[in-house]
Amino acid sequence: EKGGYKHFMAKEIAEQPAVLGDALRHYLGEEGTRIELPGDIDFSGVTRITMVACGTAYLACLTAKYWIERLAGLPVDVDVASEFRYREPPIPGGTLAVFVSQSGETADTLAALRYCAGRADRIVSVVNVAESSIARESDLALPILAGAEIGVASTKAFTCQLGVLALLALEAARQCGRLSPAALADHLTALRAMPGRFNAALALQDRIEALARRLAEVTDVLFLGRGAMYPLALEGALKLKEISYIHAEGYASGELKHGPIALVEKTVPVIVMAPHDRLFDKTVSNMQEVMARGGPVLLITDARGAAEAGSGVWETLVLPEAPELFAPMLYALPVQLLAYHTAVAKGTDVDQPRNLAKSVTVE
Ligand code: M6R
Repeated sequence: EKGGYKHFMAKEIAEQPAVLGDALRHYLGEEGTRIELPGDIDFSGVTRITMVACGTAYLACLTAKYWIERLAGLPVDVDVASEFRYREPPIPGGTLAVFVSQSGETADTLAALRYCAGRADRIVSVVNVAESSIARESDLALPILAGAEIGVASTKAFTCQLGVLALLALEAARQCGRLSPAALADHLTALRAMPGRFNAALALQDRIEALARRLAEVTDVLFLGRGAMYPLALEGALKLKEISYIHAEGYASGELKHGPIALVEKTVPVIVMAPHDRLFDKTVSNMQEVMARGGPVLLITDARGAAEAGSGVWETLVLPEAPELFAPMLYALPVQLLAYHTAVAKGTDVDQPRNLAKSVTVE
């Protein structure tokens, strides 16, 4: 059932162009020009969105915050479910509550949802398992259609969560009158092009495998990203520590000088995710601060970024150019592959990492 792959995780990483394509077609119809959500979400009375999840699903929410705030102009709060449920935050009228969960059974996320029932105006869930508790207890469940995810490390569920959340952000922006039909059409065209770009990212596999053999020798790794690449830095660190047991931390690039730069030395690789976008120069200057202190930098960027980054980086991985908005979906793939190949090089149990369960149904 691994379809010729050594691990479920490898298979699930490789499936991403196909499953994201299917998920987008499901919500966009064959022509791909209209967002068709399974139930009406009326954003007219919505004044804020609160998003709650755990682990990788939480990081999908954090990415979506950048999209929703930028596109729809709605304020978005994002919480990890275990904090949200016991903090018992006020839920003002006009709140749309969104819960994201691959399994749909995560105990803390479900408890957070139950806290919002009767308080939030509407409860929407983004789930992979359509008949799960979280889906059943929501007013509206949006399936991500990633297919069964077996590997404990979430991969295809993450990119499909991002796909569905991107559509939610675009639909909110449309209803809020912040997107012209032409602008919406441009965004949808860009989104539909993402699975093709995924294939180009997967083609970097051999290079990533070679880099991973080097990563397998270190004990600490830092990931940096700015803007919507910041959640991706967190995801990169989570994925690496989860399956390779290497200590990894993700930071917003701008936070570097507020502490983590003290860790920089030649044995601590720093993985910088920086597409050539409006924040590129800022991130490059953080990267130079790392290099000036002898830190080996692995830069993940696009062709323009690689050309402008200057010399001194340890290695560069060049991804296809992607629209700024949706670049985080694409940058997820090299991050997953790095974690995967590092774990394989270390000989860990990739699909069943120690101490972890696929579905966390106890708090
Ligand atoms: O099933 P869920 O999406 O609710 O699970 C949430 C987390 O337990 C999950 O994303 C976990 O962090 C993954 N193992 C990360 O790869």
